[in-house]
Amino acid sequence: MSTVEIRDVRKSYGQLEVIHGVSVGIADGEFVALVGPSGCGKSTLLRMIAGLEDISGGEIAIGERVVNHVAPKDRDIAMVFQNYALYPHMNVRENMGFALRQRRLPRAEINARVTDAARILGLEQLLDRKPRQLSGGQRQRVAMGRAIVRNPNVFLFDEPLSNLDAKLRVQMRSELKELHQRLGVTTVYVTHDQIEAMTLADRVVVMNGGVVEQMGPPLDLYDRPQSLFVAAFIGSPPMNFFQGDVEGDATLVLDDGHALALPVPVPGEKGRVTLGVRPEHIHLANEGWPAVVSVIEPTGSETQITARIGEHVVRVLVRGRTEARPGETIHLAARPGDLHVFDGGTGRRREMAP
Ligand SMILES: Nc1ncnc2c1ncn2[C@@H]1O[C@H](COP(=O)(O)OP(=O)(O)O)[C@@H](O)[C@H]1O
Ligand SMILES: [Mg+2]
Repeated sequence: MSTVEIRDVRKSYGQLEVIHGVSVGIADGEFVALVGPSGCGKSTLLRMIAGLEDISGGEIAIGERVVNHVAPKDRDIAMVFQNYALYPHMNVRENMGFALRQRRLPRAEINARVTDAARILGLEQLLDRKPRQLSGGQRQRVAMGRAIVRNPNVFLFDEPLSNLDAKLRVQMRSELKELHQRLGVTTVYVTHDQIEAMTLADRVVVMNGGVVEQMGPPLDLYDRPQSLFVAAFIGSPPMNFFQGDVEGDATLVLDDGHALALPVPVPGEKGRVTLGVRPEHIHLANEGWPAVVSVIEPTGSETQITARIGEHVVRVLVRGRTEARPGETIHLAARPGDLHVFDGGTGRRREMAP
């Protein structure tokens, strides 16, 4: 097993720089997810770790060794892609052993490793089948098996679940997590899906436009997003935002003139801010911000309420059911600790008074 150190790494294609100095230290055995919108540079960074792209600046070390100029096959990594195309004419056993045969490992060693990986992945009964005789989830497991048999120091995943349907994706997600708990191999996992990143990783690195916006344990990102970008990206349904001007100590005047009374003073300079509050952190109260209900969406376990404060649409998620009905005026409240304030200019977080 191994650490991975990414030190001020840059990547340019011709004149165009797409990764602008990224530094991430990954501990031995850690599961780190790189997450961000399409085009932010996740795959490029992963491919630089794998050795599939040149590094334009900075350093990547796997274990003690700087690998900038080490060939992919000598990096002790195994990568699983979104398009994990199995060889259609080979059965599962042959697919899983392919890379080892290429490396000319002894037959007995290959058999032992394939058998072991098949047991870990629950593929023992399927070893003689061809890919077309497998379900999507089973094929994905074989792709994982191909990586496991190589016994790498680091696993690299690039959106490995994106081609699966929603239900299977959730199932494979938890299988992956269990696998990591069992094998404990250092893992870098790329996804655009924040739920996948949050549920799988020990630490999440949020990328935006070729830079790291924030990294930390999943719940740190959820509890204390350091920028508007992270606040908007992490959480589902997404955080509600209110742009406005702070007046007095604790009043936010929205652009349509509506005034929101806040339960605590806004820290820092007055002026323009964005207030954020998650749908699940708003509750219905006797007193609070008056809002007119527009839509009620029950799922049984919870209910999403869409309401309007003036022009402003607010989403509220309540556990269980609600008596509220469309057209009715409700009152919305949140605990002070659940309010997030971001600077109107920089978009950076301002810490609320405790
Ligand atoms: N071979 C290439 N040549 C030029 N630009 C590229 C190349 N590969 C990726 N890019 C650009 O680099 C940026 C990051 O791409 P990528 O790492 O694939 O993003 P992500 O995986 O986060 O969706 C994008 O703007 C993309 O267009
Ligand atoms: Mg990508």
